[in-house]
Amino acid sequence: MLTSTIGGRPIGVASDATVLTLKNPANLTDDVASVALADAHTFVDACRSAKAAQRTWARVPAPVRGQVIGNLSRLVSANKEALAQIVTREIGKPIVEARGEVQEIIDTCDFFLGEGRRLYGQTVPSEMPDKQLFTFRVPVGVATIITAGNFPVAVPSWYIAPALLCGNAVVWKPAEYAAASANAFGELIRRAGIPDGVFEIVYADGETTFAGLTSALEGGFVDKVGFTGSSDVGVRIGELCGRHLQTPCLELGGKNPMVVTGDADVALAVEGALFGGFGSAGQRCTSLGTAIVHESVYEEFLTSLDVALREAIIGDPTRENVLYGPLLAERFARRYEEFVSWIEPYHRVLGSTSTGRIGPDNPRDGFTGDDKGCYFHPAVVADLRPGDKLFTTETFGPIIGVLPYRDLEHAIELANAPGYGLSSSIYTTNPASAFRFREGIGAGMVSVNNSTSGAEAHLPFGGNGRSGNGSRQSGVWVLDQFTRWQSMNWDYSGRLQRAQMDTATTTADLDFRL
Ligand code: UN1
Repeated sequence: MLTSTIGGRPIGVASDATVLTLKNPANLTDDVASVALADAHTFVDACRSAKAAQRTWARVPAPVRGQVIGNLSRLVSANKEALAQIVTREIGKPIVEARGEVQEIIDTCDFFLGEGRRLYGQTVPSEMPDKQLFTFRVPVGVATIITAGNFPVAVPSWYIAPALLCGNAVVWKPAEYAAASANAFGELIRRAGIPDGVFEIVYADGETTFAGLTSALEGGFVDKVGFTGSSDVGVRIGELCGRHLQTPCLELGGKNPMVVTGDADVALAVEGALFGGFGSAGQRCTSLGTAIVHESVYEEFLTSLDVALREAIIGDPTRENVLYGPLLAERFARRYEEFVSWIEPYHRVLGSTSTGRIGPDNPRDGFTGDDKGCYFHPAVVADLRPGDKLFTTETFGPIIGVLPYRDLEHAIELANAPGYGLSSSIYTTNPASAFRFREGIGAGMVSVNNSTSGAEAHLPFGGNGRSGNGSRQSGVWVLDQFTRWQSMNWDYSGRLQRAQMDTATTTADLDFRL
């Protein structure tokens, strides 16, 4: 039974605890693990415990904290295959992608291992003699990290590694339906040399977490919230944190557009659409939402994508050749069925032998999965219109929309219209179109001749509009989430020197003209 931790140690299972049985979405008769969900008090206790441990951790020199992150990198490397197998079994991510996800943790840790020896501040000249100015990065305190289950270990590491490196304590609330992956990653984190209480895991459902977070913020036990999940929940967390004058790090949904210009390499664009739209069964926040294709190559793009998708293997995620496996968990199936119900009679649906759930009465050619799994046909919904719900709303799952455009300004307008702004892409052979698109698109991330998903682990990651509040993860940019700048001035002149008033002035002949 997986349980939450306080003081770095698993707590007992309360007699009235809700216990969740986690099922392999590729075969719902395979029980992966059981997890006892915590109540709001446990959440608050974990934050209080983290608060008590944080000050000591902050006094550990940053290069030594960096060693801990380096240890974590080695532990994850040594357990890469085992962790990837747990991810695949628990959420159905194809094994090749699961290995990539674990590699993303290693890449992240390797970056922040070095940051332990930088974490630079500045020395700044003073306007006075015998006075020196400095800046320091100081840890924020306790970071509460709430993450989704589609990247059950990599995205959490984007928060956890820099937060710990910067001297914060972390309370991690993973997606409860991905608790086995979280527990496995947590086991590695705990063995990397982190003192007890500096890193806690709390398994809880969304509403309990919200109640616990509300109390923990009121109690002064939380100094930073990191949240990856839906835009709706992001709004609630933003409101809650705002009441405590805190700015959360929000990484929310996306309706990521891909523009294919008339001069694009259409075959390459089709490959990008296949991976971006259907990799991870379309359940990345960076997944392709809508392909906006120039009218001159519109039919060619659709035909090629239809052929490529029909040939793609969907099914058993433990095999290396699958495009995608099941949805993350059965709870996502109902929501996905609703997205499919938004298909209108005037749409053309391409890419498979049918739509909806794959099963004996709704088969797909070449399907390699189990009938007891949570598998869905891919859907390319062509001839989308800007008013369609499928155009305006994020659809988490193996479905994309396609519509034609006239000129680049029109394409950019369509790409921005849904109001999200996470990832975007353009396929073109004209550099001017690439730069015009970059300038016009509201997204935080732009790919040229590459798919909307697949960001590297050391570039700023984050969105605007309905995709986030402008916060950025990864690389040096995330340091601004987990540290605050402190400035220091030191006057060694032995007298009071008043800024702005006792400053030396220069004389110049400003009326001089050549
Ligand atoms: C997410 O879906 O929350 O860029 C993160 C990508 C991955 C991360 C996705 N590296 O697709």
